[in-house]
Amino acid sequence: MRKKIIAGNWKMNKLPNETINFIEELAPLVKSTQNEVILCVPYTDLFYALLTAQNTNIKIGAQNMHFEESGAYTGEISAKMLKAINVEYVIIGHSERRQYFKETDETVNKKVKAAFQNGLKPIVCVGETLEQREAQKTEEIITNQTELALEGLTDEQVKNTIIAYEPIWAIGTGKTATKEDANNSIKAIRNKIAKNYGQKVANSVIIQYGGSVKSTNAKELFEMSDIDGGLVGGASLKVDEFSKIVNFENNNSNN
Ligand code: 13P
Repeated sequence: MRKKIIAGNWKMNKLPNETINFIEELAPLVKSTQNEVILCVPYTDLFYALLTAQNTNIKIGAQNMHFEESGAYTGEISAKMLKAINVEYVIIGHSERRQYFKETDETVNKKVKAAFQNGLKPIVCVGETLEQREAQKTEEIITNQTELALEGLTDEQVKNTIIAYEPIWAIGTGKTATKEDANNSIKAIRNKIAKNYGQKVANSVIIQYGGSVKSTNAKELFEMSDIDGGLVGGASLKVDEFSKIVNFENNNSNN
């Protein structure tokens, strides 16, 4: 059985003092969950988040990294730097980075490899635009993105990659994919991984759904056969809301 992983992506939000308060309030609310809890925070909050989350079940991730280990890349942060302060996870290839910062499937692949070389666990984002969806290209786009992101990885590395299926039209819009649609897209991603790395590897890869996840829809989404939790943006900024998403099993799906 795959576990559920619920990760918050704070994007460019929260200062260190807000980070400390958030984690201090969240920790008791999620301490009994069987699900894995990750907060991906801005670089400037990482150190504070890591200190505050010590002795809790909350894991800390970054939202990006460079694929080179060091060098003349003004303003960039490497996997080695993240690892040195004990960061465990890193989001790679979020659609906002692909859209605003020109990340490509090639840079995503380089970053995934660099993350593994430095002992970080990547959360790789894939997803289609509304235009691609309307042109019936969803499956082709997301399976291609997945294939290219994982190119050249060992079976073991693929097993340890978290994939987040985030349809771009559902991010920050309040529109969520239906649970059936999200599950089917995730199944298509898993089938592609099975084709390239075998069914056993595919069965153990965690594939999350992201895009307007809230406490009111988390349960129905996360209970689907292939959806292994979520990558949560806006709703991860509020302790109460995020804790309900982490504890989704206790939510009443009708509220
Ligand atoms: P929202 O949950 O705000 O739609 O954002 C999703 C997302 O981009 C998480 O990475």
